Amino acid sequence: MTKRDVLVMFPARPKTMAQLEAAYTLHRYDEAEDKPAFLAEYGPRCEAIVTNGHAALSRADLDHLPKVKIVCCSSAGFEFIDAEALKDRGIWLTNSSLALCDDVADTALMLALAARRQLVAAHDYVRSGDWGRKGMYPLLSSMKGKRVGIAGIGTIGQAIARRFEPLRVEIGYTARNARDLPWRYFGEVEALAEWADVLVAVVPGGAATERMFDRKVFAALGATGTFVNVARGSVVDEPALIEALSSGTLGSAGLDVFLDEPNPDPALTRLPNVTLYPHHASGTVETRDAMSQTVVDNLAALFAGQPLTSPVYDLPAPSGR
Ligand code: DGY
Repeated sequence: MTKRDVLVMFPARPKTMAQLEAAYTLHRYDEAEDKPAFLAEYGPRCEAIVTNGHAALSRADLDHLPKVKIVCCSSAGFEFIDAEALKDRGIWLTNSSLALCDDVADTALMLALAARRQLVAAHDYVRSGDWGRKGMYPLLSSMKGKRVGIAGIGTIGQAIARRFEPLRVEIGYTARNARDLPWRYFGEVEALAEWADVLVAVVPGGAATERMFDRKVFAALGATGTFVNVARGSVVDEPALIEALSSGTLGSAGLDVFLDEPNPDPALTRLPNVTLYPHHASGTVETRDAMSQTVVDNLAALFAGQPLTSPVYDLPAPSGR
């Protein structure tokens, strides 16, 4: 039987690539030296794209991909993929939010606790012998009874809220509209920050959310507040964050993502009141395998005429063409 042609713009994990190779004829755009020439030659025969949100896919690229029915993205974020252009052409887009939401939620909780309980500095205090020389580490602030604001309450935001619930905190959130959820709704991120002690950013990246966490938001969160970012560096006005943390307008931050990755601004990374993580919230073997597997499963579902396992939006029912 002839295999369907699939364009690989960003490879999946090795185990997944082996499954894809067995089932499809893969065209390795990711490895091509002359990408425009490769797209012009192989694009017209491809029925699907395997990619990741860090690889760009534009409306113009789609002109070379007339047979594509689905774009399977092994990451949760897809801000460099023109989703509107895909939708306009009736092309499905799938992502991996469901597969990574637990690990990202764990990381948000870890960063919030580590920032507020000064885990890194306290670790150094023990290791350096300062504990013996200087005595008890300064008293810190308890999480119990505090207010945790979650900006963005999709799949991952809800998983984060559920991680915080057992800590006996109050939970609030922002979203376009109030949702049927047991937590307090805020229409604006600044109002959420004003109310919260801990503010977690988990909104999608892209033009609509660029620098939405700015000077006003950090001032509203305040000198005892903690900002946690597991979204994208682009959602933060980073100079404003540096200024707020340096001046003490904002208490602390736990950051998994940065404007400039993998070389974040040293003015940010050298601050004593930041806890840093290298964009690794989903960085476990289990989760990265599961994220990759969504690509295989969605492709198989589409070509079998079955419902997709993790579509980003709805289109008329898929048919196995
Ligand atoms: C995602 O899946 O979007 C994560 O940020 C890893 O890239």
